Amino acid sequence: MLFLQLVLLVVLLPGGDSEDAFQEPMSFQIILTVSFYNHSWTQNLGSAWLNELQTHSWDNKTGAFIFLWPWSRGNWTTEQLMKLEKLLYTYSIGFRQVFQDHVRHWQLEYPFQVQLAEGCKLHTGEASVGFVRIAYQGADLASFQNMTWWPSPKGGSRAQQVCKLFNQYHMTNEGLHTLFSDSCPRFLLSLLDAGKEDLQRQERPEAWLSTGPSPSPGHLLLVCHISGFHPKPVWVMWMRGEKEQQGTQRGDVLPHGDGTWYLQTSLDVKASEAADLSCRVRHSSLGGQDMVLHWEQPHSVGLVFLAVIVPLVLLAGLALWLWKCWKTHWRPQCTGFPVE
Ligand SMILES: *[C@@H]1O[C@H](CO)[C@@H](O)[C@H](O)[C@H]1NC(C)=O
Ligand SMILES: *[C@@H]1O[C@H](CO)[C@@H](O)[C@H](O)[C@H]1NC(C)=O
Ligand SMILES: *[C@@H]1O[C@H](CO)[C@@H](O)[C@H](O)[C@H]1NC(C)=O
Ligand SMILES: *[C@@H]1O[C@H](CO)[C@@H](O)[C@H](O)[C@H]1NC(C)=O
Repeated sequence: MLFLQLVLLVVLLPGGDSEDAFQEPMSFQIILTVSFYNHSWTQNLGSAWLNELQTHSWDNKTGAFIFLWPWSRGNWTTEQLMKLEKLLYTYSIGFRQVFQDHVRHWQLEYPFQVQLAEGCKLHTGEASVGFVRIAYQGADLASFQNMTWWPSPKGGSRAQQVCKLFNQYHMTNEGLHTLFSDSCPRFLLSLLDAGKEDLQRQERPEAWLSTGPSPSPGHLLLVCHISGFHPKPVWVMWMRGEKEQQGTQRGDVLPHGDGTWYLQTSLDVKASEAADLSCRVRHSSLGGQDMVLHWEQPHSVGLVFLAVIVPLVLLAGLALWLWKCWKTHWRPQCTGFPVE
């Protein structure tokens, strides 16, 4: 069976030096999603990721890789990459076919989706770990480890049947293992090396505050936005003085198109207790200096205006009028309002 021949990636090399400067662990994985609509209609979508940065997409008509970064080829030759492309393409067809052929046997119901994730992870100072996983309708179904397919505990009898079949593909599994213990870690290391500049860049976050929809009467939802930072790890907390506010709600860190990140962090407080709050941001690009944004009541500018500026203007007007009256007229109308 050609099926599975291709699955690249993964495995068992000790971590080298070149990933030291990166967040850990570093992983490279290929994700293939196959949507089955009926017995003659399927859709394939493939992509490759270095941690959470997409490095490749895949032309599902020609099977060609699309290199999303100048360094997406690592140090592999065009010939090596084309060989891999061919394998991936053949593999995706084989994979799809196996599922199409077992719809009834495995009690799959159209429409359904099967995902395949295969890759390797490197931790400094530890052996790298390879993985191949299959998910059905978004839930783990089976994984490949130590030359064997293992059913996911929650995959039921379907997972066991899938593994039973896949475990008969000895040649393919051996190929898988070889690819894993060889190709993936080498490719990952060469990507880390070639993409160093983009991967290790430090981008300072921009941050600003706003309010969200009021959670309940008399309450405010304070929102701290942090945008445009790289790398991804960031610490953000609502504070009152030096005290961390445990009610801080952290959203998901979302990607921008340029590879930087966005995060919003909110706090539900009584409107009367919003004063003195601040949002504190800690990030590697800030050189140890936290960014602190103090919450100011949005209407405080209006209050300052009303309380200070308006009386000042009135006083100034009155003084001017009195002074004018006193200087140019001696008339009694100065005791009343000017009428002209
Ligand atoms: C399969 O699904 C596609 C798209 O939904 C549809 O156009 C096609 O007619 C279906 N074929 C069969 C045999 O049901
Ligand atoms: C290829 O992928 C595109 C989405 O990128 C999808 O619309 C199309 O149907 C896919 N074609 C096949 C044959 O899977
Ligand atoms: C992998 O399989 C081999 C042979 O079947 C066995 O000797 C070894 O202990 C297994 N390793 C792990 C981590 O399960
Ligand atoms: C490719 O990169 C890897 C990791 O950086 C390195 O070990 C290997 O020697 C390089 N191969 C070539 C042909 O330069």
